[in-house]
Amino acid sequence: MCGIVGYIGHREAYPIILKGLKRLEYRGYDSAGIALYDGTDIKLSKTKGKVADLEERLEKEISTTGTLGIGHTRWATHGVPNDVNSHPHYSNSGDLVIIHNGIIENYESLKKELIKRGYTFKSDTDTEVLVNLIEDVKKKEKTKLGKAVQIALNQVVGAYAIAVFDKNKPNEIVVARLGSPLAIGIGEDEFFIASDASPFIEYTKNAIYLEDEEMAVVRRHKGIKIRKIKDDSLVAPYIQELQLNLEQIEKGGYEHFMLKEIYEQPSAILDTFRGRLLSNEAIIKMAGVEDNMKKFLNANRIIIVACGTSWHAGLVAEYIFEDLARIPVEVEYASEFRYRNPIINENDVVIAISQSGETADTLAAIKLAKSKGAFVFGVCNVVGSSIARESDAGAYTHAGPEIGVASTKAFTTQITVLSLIALRLARAKGTISSSDYRTHLLELELIPGKVKTALESDAYVKTVADIYKDAKNFLYLGRGYNFPVALEGALKLKEISYIHAEGYPAAEMKHGPIALIDENMPIVVIATKKGHYEKVVSNIQEIKSRSGKIIGIVTVGDKQVKELADHVIEVPETIESLTPLLTTIPLQLLSYHIALMLGKNVDQPRNLAKAVTVE
Ligand code: F6R
Repeated sequence: MCGIVGYIGHREAYPIILKGLKRLEYRGYDSAGIALYDGTDIKLSKTKGKVADLEERLEKEISTTGTLGIGHTRWATHGVPNDVNSHPHYSNSGDLVIIHNGIIENYESLKKELIKRGYTFKSDTDTEVLVNLIEDVKKKEKTKLGKAVQIALNQVVGAYAIAVFDKNKPNEIVVARLGSPLAIGIGEDEFFIASDASPFIEYTKNAIYLEDEEMAVVRRHKGIKIRKIKDDSLVAPYIQELQLNLEQIEKGGYEHFMLKEIYEQPSAILDTFRGRLLSNEAIIKMAGVEDNMKKFLNANRIIIVACGTSWHAGLVAEYIFEDLARIPVEVEYASEFRYRNPIINENDVVIAISQSGETADTLAAIKLAKSKGAFVFGVCNVVGSSIARESDAGAYTHAGPEIGVASTKAFTTQITVLSLIALRLARAKGTISSSDYRTHLLELELIPGKVKTALESDAYVKTVADIYKDAKNFLYLGRGYNFPVALEGALKLKEISYIHAEGYPAAEMKHGPIALIDENMPIVVIATKKGHYEKVVSNIQEIKSRSGKIIGIVTVGDKQVKELADHVIEVPETIESLTPLLTTIPLQLLSYHIALMLGKNVDQPRNLAKAVTVE
């Protein structure tokens, strides 16, 4: 959580940092701040609120000159969002200035020690403790900033991506990472620092991603020196060429990133299977799977670990893997798995699913699984992310940047990758007939076009949204492959509209939730032709007889549900295992329109952040 940006070079830092913070706002948006240095005075401005609030205030408060600068957009961990707790933070002398993404877990004991030594603190943050610890070390050891940062970080327990500069060293910024991402863009005699590459993509395509426990001293005119924080050894910089382009991280004419990303799903899904699904030859080619085929085929079971929407994709995968490849699957919340002493060994395959590749709980879960000898396969969207790097092998979803905080295209592309893997394993195990296998491949190829058709319901979904936008609660019901879609639909609605919503397996309704049903309760029921259709129709009848309002998600041409439901939204027909890729679309649109009609900030819902890099 939190986004950090820094610049040192020959340009004015302010516009670069401001624009960069706007691009990183998806990482946190409860407060923001910038410090600029022109070699004489440090100018610092920070405020509770969004980057736009900072912009409005900053230009009145300080002069915006300086070719060195750092900026921060916050998702509060220690200390409520307010001006004082916002970053950057000064050290007591006013010489050092820091920005930080992460958590210093032992900050209280460090703070007590520093207080004993005469340090005072303005904020409640762990970050202000860190900058004073660095200052203390620097004074005690009479050493340079880089060395002081290194010594201080060796006393710290927690996670961090930091950038810090010293008033007495106008040509250098020191950065370090452990558990939170940090990229350094390399331009001509200039350097960019950021949580991801989006803030500097128009300036350079060359970037270094710091590894955990690495730090770098970034010097104007002189370049970068990377070291291991623990043993001080030098690290040769590995410069990567970025594949990202500006278009991908802009709204492209859409009102919100979420809507853009919903509409990108046909092409995102296509990009996910492009080059992997060769339907003419009836082949699925995925290097990460082929190279580790034995591990998969000999696995006692597959354990899927993930959080939030990615966990829902994992639940869909459970149905697919068990149904097609006949491999037992368990799906675990990463946050529970990591702390419950799971029984796991070298005969297990763990699949970690994560859009950002930075989710702290998922990362910890795979480290635990690896330590017990399990083989870890990562399904991530962000290339080079921590989970992608920590996994033994993996497959990217290739969805392109997802910036809207509510996950949309990540979900459908994760299901696409997981379907490909399940089909490949099913073929290798002989648990699918060659004609079924071909049918699946052909149907998967048709999905992008069918998602496009499903998107055509947008205007109708909007009218449904208008009718139910003032409801206080929603229920979402589905069975089989579409039970996880019900969970996902409910999550989408609650996270962006703040309406309480629950997802249930349709048949579970009569074990409790049915008590909630009255004429004020809208119930979204996924009732596609394939998969327990008749049973879901019975569930709809049960709701109807209790006056609930039914919004049915049905297969095109459906008649039975149409007669019973208050509204039906049609999706094209496909094979059962692929229905989640279509039924999800109207649910995404429904939550989008309701949130918008209620005046909510769709792309930046309250209290949330895109990458949850803290526990
Ligand atoms: C919901 C949402 C979150 C994420 C969860 C995991 O719309 O975005 O529930 O799915 O925080 O994030 P990743 O996939 O990045 O590990």
